[in-house]
Amino acid sequence: DPTFTTSSSSSQTGKAILLAAERLRSSDVPVAFPTETVYGLGADATRDEAVRNIFTIKGRPADNPLIVHVGSLKQARELLRPTTASPTENFEIPAIYKPLIDKFWPGPLTILLPLPQNSKLSPHVYATQTTVGVRMPAHPVALALALASKLPIAAPSANKSGLPSPTTAKHVAVDLYKRVELILDGGSCVVGLESTVVDGLSNPPAILRPGGVSLEQIRACEGWEGVIVHKEDGGGNSGGGANGAASGAAPRAPGMKYKHYSPTCGVRLYLPNTDQPTVEELKSTAFGSDSRVARLGVLRTRQWKELDDKQVEWLRERNVELVEDSLGTTGEEISRRLFGALRRMDDEGVVVVHIEGIEEDMEGLAVMNRLKKAASVVIRRRDV
Ligand code: TXA
Ligand code: MG
Repeated sequence: DPTFTTSSSSSQTGKAILLAAERLRSSDVPVAFPTETVYGLGADATRDEAVRNIFTIKGRPADNPLIVHVGSLKQARELLRPTTASPTENFEIPAIYKPLIDKFWPGPLTILLPLPQNSKLSPHVYATQTTVGVRMPAHPVALALALASKLPIAAPSANKSGLPSPTTAKHVAVDLYKRVELILDGGSCVVGLESTVVDGLSNPPAILRPGGVSLEQIRACEGWEGVIVHKEDGGGNSGGGANGAASGAAPRAPGMKYKHYSPTCGVRLYLPNTDQPTVEELKSTAFGSDSRVARLGVLRTRQWKELDDKQVEWLRERNVELVEDSLGTTGEEISRRLFGALRRMDDEGVVVVHIEGIEEDMEGLAVMNRLKKAASVVIRRRDV
C-alpha cells in the first residue's frame, strides 16, 4: 500500500519531502505530490524509465506531453541548455514570458519553452512537440520537492487518465492504488483546476488550456494583449473564442483532444440562462438505472434553488433519491470544489448529475472548459 505522509508536524513533513526527493533520484517508481492546482505524479524528467512509468501507471496516450515542474528560475533556465553546451554558458527564457513569470510564478501557469538541440530530458516528456511545458508550482511541498531533489520533475495530474484530476491525497490513492509507493499529503488543493498552458512562441501568443490563471489576467500583461484562446478538437462546444478571442493555427496542447475530467455517471450541463430542471425533468433522466431506486445528482452554483422537502418527497415516492450539493457561488469556490464534487457523484452511485453552468469569464472559462468535456448532454437556452 502507498505510504501516506502526515502533515501533523513540520519536521515530519520535511522528512517526507526528503524521502520523496531520494525516491525521485534513485527509483523508477513515480512519486505523487500536492500542488496548488491538482496532485501530480512526478518523476525525474531526465530519467527515461521513470517517465515511461508515469504513462503506464496513468494509462496515458504517449503523444500527450508532460509538464516539467521547477523550484527556481535557475532550474527553468537549465531546461534550455543543450547537453553539449559549456557549463558557463547561460540560457535565457524568451522575453515574452517575463511579465507572466513576474506576476504568476510560482503559480498555476505553464509556459512552453523551446527544446534545445540536445536536451537532457527524456523524450517521453515532450512526446512529439518541439517545446517543453514548464511550471513553477506555488504549493510549498511541490517547491520544496523540486529544490530538495535538485531535479526537474515531470508530472501530469495524478489521476487515472480520463477521470477528474485529484485534488486530495485520497483521490490519488483511490485512482492509483498499488501503482504508487509514496503520496505526499499536502491537504486539499486551493485552486482545484489545472494550470493555464500558454504558448508565447507562437504569434499571436495563445492559451492552449484555460486554467488557474484567467484569460483576463494574461491579457493584462505586456505583450499578451492579443492573446488568443485555442479552439479544441472534437466539437464546437469548447471555451475557445470566448470573450472576443479568435482561434489561431499554432500547435495545440495534445492533451486537450482526449476525453477528460469525466465521472463515470452521465453529466447534464446547463448553460447559464437555461431554467433549473423541474422535478419531472429530473425524474425523466433517472431511467436506465438497474437498481430499483435511482440516484440523481444536482450541483448548483449561482441561481438554482435547493429543492424543498415536498419536491424531494415527490421524487422519493417515484424511487428517485437526490444527492444535492452547492459548488459555491464565486469562481474560486466553484473551481476548488468541482473535481471533488464530480468524484463524489460516482462514490454515491449517482446515475446522472445535473450541473448548473456559469458564465465563461474569469475562472468561469476554465470551469466550463472542464465541464463541457465531462458533459454527455449540454442544455442550451430554449428558443422563444
Ligand atoms: O496544474 C497542472 O498543470 C497539473 C499539476 C500537476 O502541475 N498538471 C497537469 O498535467 O495538469 P497534465 O499532464 O494532466 O496536463 C498537461 C497539459 C496537457 O493538455 C498537455 O497536452 C499540455 O499540458 N502540454 C504539456 N506539454 C506541452 C507542450 N510541449 N506543448 C503543448 N502542450 C503541452
Ligand atoms: Mg491531466
